[in-house]
Amino acid sequence: MNILITGGAGSIGSNLLKELLKLNIYNIYVADNLWRGKLENINISNNKNFNISENFFNVDLRDYENCLKVTSDIDHVIHLADVVAGINYVFGNQFSLFQSNLSINSNILKASIENKVKNFTYVGTACSYPLEKQSEINHTPLTEEEAYPANPESSYGWSKLIGEYEIELASKEGLIKSSILRLHNVYGPPCETSPELSQVIPSLCRKLILNEKYIIWGSGKQRRSFVYISDVVKALLKSISFKEGHKVIQIGPNESTSIMDIAEKLLKISKKNISPIYDISKPEGDFDRVPNITKANNILKWKQEISIDDGLELTYKWCFDHLLKNK
Ligand SMILES: NC(=O)c1ccc[n+]([C@@H]2O[C@H](COP(=O)([O-])OP(=O)(O)OC[C@H]3O[C@@H](n4cnc5c(N)ncnc54)[C@H](O)[C@@H]3O)[C@@H](O)[C@H]2O)c1
Repeated sequence: MNILITGGAGSIGSNLLKELLKLNIYNIYVADNLWRGKLENINISNNKNFNISENFFNVDLRDYENCLKVTSDIDHVIHLADVVAGINYVFGNQFSLFQSNLSINSNILKASIENKVKNFTYVGTACSYPLEKQSEINHTPLTEEEAYPANPESSYGWSKLIGEYEIELASKEGLIKSSILRLHNVYGPPCETSPELSQVIPSLCRKLILNEKYIIWGSGKQRRSFVYISDVVKALLKSISFKEGHKVIQIGPNESTSIMDIAEKLLKISKKNISPIYDISKPEGDFDRVPNITKANNILKWKQEISIDDGLELTYKWCFDHLLKNK
């Protein structure tokens, strides 16, 4: 069986690639233009089912011809490629990000249908929930259906929701079998640490490790449901085993953590004797969101395994080694 992971050189994709290779039953291909992905993430030696020169395509998936090429002879597409970054990039590049993600998602789906790919896995995001359902603390956990009526805060949230919608249409018309996971805030190595593109946890790790000012964006009271990357990969592996596909299922912990708590926990891990600086002139995004994970528990039999404390330790350690090695 031939599997294509789009965005496979990225954070979630490269972890998934390694887990799938352990099963030793799939030929796996990766398509990624390395916008945020890295070759070092997929530099796997001595594996008969994957080597960079034959199984990796460095292509831009906004281009339909590239999508046609990489989906040829593929049985299952696991579509993870999209423009993903921290709040600074997302709010500073709303139009181009929206256009990129719409064309990536639409072209890879159209090409998969054209090439008669049997299964298609898509990942949506909790950023797609309506702004008004994330505007207070301790909001009732959100069900999958509450993404509608739609009103995401960012063009990123819109682009990912439209991706879900388009795949659902194709699936309803019997053009392809699809599975959709809607992920909450994913963290863990390998991850982007640059000031321009990193998300909050690796960004705070970098500030601590490289002795930058420990500035937290916003009040720090904003909350997110952080899910460690290995738990996300487990959810993807379970989802892939549903050969008839399944509707949207959320993946995340059943409680949120404030950014202030994350900042304090990382400070403790770093053993540095400094104080966080809260910059309320910077955007902090939605206020709070927690998933109702009944479907994840009942349908996928998925449960969070890595606690936030353990996940932060692992991420900080990786960032420490990575940043000091590359200095
Ligand atoms: N990280 C999160 O918190 C989170 C939360 C919810 C959903 N998701 C979704 O999970 C998926 C993977 O995210 P990730 O966290 O691994 O991010 P990532 O940035 O590490 O992975 C995305 C990959 O897509 C690639 N890419 C971007 N534009 C491309 C293009 N035009 N052509 C080819 N490849 C392109 C990037 O180079 C990158 O390797 C994304 O679809 C994202 O929307 C992520």
